[in-house]
Parts: sequence; structure tokens; C-alpha cells
Amino acid sequence: MSLIKKIARAAVVAAACALALGGAGCVQSAPPGEQSSGLLKDVYGDYFTVGTAVQSRTLNKYSDVLPHFNSVTAETEMKWSRLERQQGAYDYSGADAVIRWAEEHDAAVRGHCLVWYKSLPGWVLAEGTTKSQALARMQTHIDETMRRFGDSVYCWDVVNEAIKDSLASWQLESGDIWRTGNISGGDTGDWYAVCGEDYVKQAFIYADEARTKYGLDDVELFYNDYALNSANKREACVQLVEMLREDDIPIDGIGMQGHYKLSDYLADPQKFIEGFEESVKTFTGLGLDVHVTELDIRVYENDGDPPAFDSLPLSVELQQAEMYADIFEVLREYSIPWKDGAGCVTNVTVWGAADDSAAWDTEAHKEYPLLFDEEHRPKEAYYSIISF
Ligand code: GLA
Repeated sequence: MSLIKKIARAAVVAAACALALGGAGCVQSAPPGEQSSGLLKDVYGDYFTVGTAVQSRTLNKYSDVLPHFNSVTAETEMKWSRLERQQGAYDYSGADAVIRWAEEHDAAVRGHCLVWYKSLPGWVLAEGTTKSQALARMQTHIDETMRRFGDSVYCWDVVNEAIKDSLASWQLESGDIWRTGNISGGDTGDWYAVCGEDYVKQAFIYADEARTKYGLDDVELFYNDYALNSANKREACVQLVEMLREDDIPIDGIGMQGHYKLSDYLADPQKFIEGFEESVKTFTGLGLDVHVTELDIRVYENDGDPPAFDSLPLSVELQQAEMYADIFEVLREYSIPWKDGAGCVTNVTVWGAADDSAAWDTEAHKEYPLLFDEEHRPKEAYYSIISF
């Protein structure tokens, strides 16, 4: 659909929605021929599950928007630093509240995340920790977490963000792809420096062992990272998968986080979408499922930019909607295997329910990154992804 048609369609749908229902979080009547509820999980029922990130303390605040989603990811409450800040002292309260909510609302829970260089309690890789100590702690954490949540969780991001940023070609060629160095500050740890690439292998081995031990056959194991739409990081991720497969270590899927900036797309929309599609095609082509795990589109170019406007101008909102629409078009296309043995896109998760959840906002500006606005009303982005 052309941009002009999409804009016209969005305007008509928006007007109809306002007239028919009005108010916060309105669920629109869809145009003839489309799913009728307007709920994203229904619109995409034949394609993939649609998720959002949540926090237990704001589940009520977003009760008007959350019915759109049939998958939820705990934004922080399943991370290691939240579950076991002191060794052996577990706190499952937040995670349990998210799971309880999901069960009551027929939503599935994405597990996020078992091993990451951030949100890591200090004791895990405290100074002087040996490789065998580090791996033993990792094994206990993975085993205990997967046992505790069992089949309440349908997949786990086993390892998050193991690949370094700004990879040069020579680094790809020499296999120098791992994030290490320049990792400092509270709740961080340099897994690679202590364990080398074995930490990635062992994380998947331990997760697979826990899956077998606790009879969690349907729980899928994912590698999750950002910027996987870029050529070099895509290639590095393929190397990661090959490394695991050479040792017969199972991996079921790739999580493409998808924290994007509108400017990534506006610079050359076709190039952006081609890169994105190439990654989805490459990963599914390896027989892996793809989840888009943390999708949002920030509208400011640079983190330090001063506030350019007090509210999101329609012109920018429409550009953002166009970007969302193009991304979802690719995702729909790959929701069925494109060749024998290919995996497919089985979940798309946005990183927050509505623009007031403010994950990226700073004092200087707001980012308006999501599908629903600060009043929880559907944005043009929402209309653009339900109109196809
Ligand atoms: C990464 C993590 C998420 C979240 C974001 C920042 O993408 O995977 O859990 O912490 O950073 O909001």
C-alpha cells in the first residue's frame, strides 16, 4: 500500500474510531474484510503472537491496552539481578505477579533473560572469580530459574547481547565477534573475559539440560541481540549459531530486539527494510524461529538532542507509522517458512505498552516509540500495522 493510501486509510479509521468509541485505549471496529476486534492479537492471530514488555507494578495502569497482547515479557523482573541479588536469596515476587497476570489473561510469557553482561548481581563475576566458578554459578542460575518457572514460560533468551558493537570485516573474518572490555559499573560483568566463548556454549548446554531434566520439551531457547538487521552483526550471529551447531548444542531461535530510531529508516527506507528482511530471511533460513523481542521506534535522532516539540507532530507520527508498517509487512511474509526446513517468525513483541511507559525518555525529550500514545490511544503506528 502506498504511503498516501496508508495515510488516507489511517485517517478514515482514526476518525471512525474516535466517533464510534472515543476515549483512552479505544479498540476500533476494523474495516470490512479485516478482523473485527481490532485487538492486535486477533489481527495477527494467523501470523504470530504479539507481545509487550510489562512490569508487575504497572499492570493495572495499562489494563486498557494490555488486551491487545497475547505474550508478555517481564521488562526487568526475570533478570538475574532481580531474582537473586544476594547469592541464594531468591525473590520471585515480581516475576510471579507477571506470570499470574498472564495466566489470568490468557497470555504467554517470554523468558528474558538468563545470561547477560548487564543486570548481573556483583557476586557472580566478582574480582578473582575463576572460569569454573563462573560457569558453576551460571549453571545453578539457569537450572534454578528454568525449574522455578517451568512451562509458565514458553521460551528463554538464554544469552543476551554477547556480540560486540561496530564489528569491522577483519573482526568477522578472524572470529573476533565477542563483546568484551569496556564493561564496568554496577550490575555488569565481562563473561567473555572470564570464560571466553565457552560461556555462550555452556549457557545453551545448561539450558538444554534443564529443559530435559524438567520435561520442558516445548520451551524454546533463543539468542537475543540488537542491531541484528545490520550486515556485520547478522553475520556474527550466524557465526554464533554455527559455533553452537558444530558442537551439537541446540538453539531454537533468534531474538531480534529491534530498538530502532526513526532516522535509521528515514536515511534510506528501502535499504533499512532490505537489511531487516535479509536478517529475518537468513535466520529463518537456518531453520531457526525468529522473534522480534523488543520493538520500538524512537523519534529523536540523538540521545542528547534538545526537545524539538511538546507533542508528537502528525508528520513525524506518520513517518513512524510507515516504518512500523514496513517492518510488519516483512514479518507477516516470514510468518510461514519460505523454504523447506526454514523456521519462521512466531512472535513480535513491542517494548512497552504505551508511550507513557517512557523506557527511553530523558529529562530533555520524549521518544514516543510505541503503538499507543501517552493517553493509551492508538497511534498512526497502530493503524498502519492493522491495515493490510
Ligand atoms: C536491552 C535488554 C532489555 C532492556 C533494554 C533497555 O535491550 O535486553 O531487557 O533492558 O536493553 O531498555
